[in-house]
Amino acid sequence: MLKQRFQKNIRAAADILLQGGVVAFPTETVYGLGADAANPQALCRVFEIKGRPTDHPLIVHFGHVSLLDYWAGGIPDGAWRLASRFWPGPLTLILPRRTHVSRLVTGGQDTVGLRVPDHPVALALLRNMGPDKGLAAPSANRFGRVSPTTAEHVRAEFGEQVDMILDGGPCRVGVESTIVGFNGKLPVLLRHGGIPVPALEEALGQKILLPDAAKLSPRTPGSLPSHYAPATPLEVWPAGALERRARELATQGQRVALLELIEEPSPYPDSPRLFHHPMPARATAYARVLYSTLRKIDDACFDRILAEAPPQTADWQAVHDRLRRAATLYCSTEV
Ligand code: TXA
Ligand code: MG
Repeated sequence: MLKQRFQKNIRAAADILLQGGVVAFPTETVYGLGADAANPQALCRVFEIKGRPTDHPLIVHFGHVSLLDYWAGGIPDGAWRLASRFWPGPLTLILPRRTHVSRLVTGGQDTVGLRVPDHPVALALLRNMGPDKGLAAPSANRFGRVSPTTAEHVRAEFGEQVDMILDGGPCRVGVESTIVGFNGKLPVLLRHGGIPVPALEEALGQKILLPDAAKLSPRTPGSLPSHYAPATPLEVWPAGALERRARELATQGQRVALLELIEEPSPYPDSPRLFHHPMPARATAYARVLYSTLRKIDDACFDRILAEAPPQTADWQAVHDRLRRAATLYCSTEV
């Protein structure tokens, strides 16, 4: 049971949303910047606050898998299978929109992104809004920047610009949802995220198409190469090349933040210009702290971030994807 104080805040947040306000709320992946999906003025404010072009669609969050066909029509079997297996959870499905779904939400497209978040605060908020209500929400960061995984991150980025920020603690997953679309009946991966590909394929009983990243629709901003970037330039190097690069930069007088996997502690001593930020050696734990680590480093005014390339296994795909998009230089395998 959510504590009484929380209940009151959630009721207040639901009222604000029903009156056309904008509320930042926690999900298990990252914080969202929410508006009533049926309120055009509120949706416009979300685009404005985020600094996002209006042809980039928003995800509609709703409360229960049984409501899927209220939001989408022509739902392929595979989508039902994924929804019933992974919702509530870090999976977004792109499906044909019902006509009541505003084109403002879908960026003018005939498909809509849908997801049931797995966070007690988000679910309680949706319950308080009512059964036929949806929360249209992008991640609560400025367009192109690192997503927020705490209420503090949202406050630092948007402060007074939003009507309310619901604090649900740090996000459990830490990277955004996996996005799956359909080409006819064929499932297509549109963004790596909280659910790894092998788990999707197991639930589907078939392979999922992995389109060439360059061919992903430009309307999926998460697929733009420069997305999810910290302000500090970031380079990714395999473990064997990290030390040389770190020393090179330190010699040039740069302050370098080193993100190494903690199971392989640094073989070289600290230099006053090298700062170690040990990172978890398990993919889920690494994902959970990645964005908050990048924000911390940005705040501490480093000249460069050097990240050790994680293993090339399926469980690390979402982390690789985010590092690749954040990096100015990405070299993930030993040469
Ligand atoms: O984990 C998440 O997905 C978080 C939390 C808040 O739910 N949300 C999130 O939203 O990451 P956003 O807007 O930052 O990224 C959603 C992605 C965008 O790349 C958007 O273009 C894509 O989903 N998307 C949404 N609707 C779409 C559609 N109809 N067709 C193609 N892509 C769509
Ligand atoms: Mg985003």
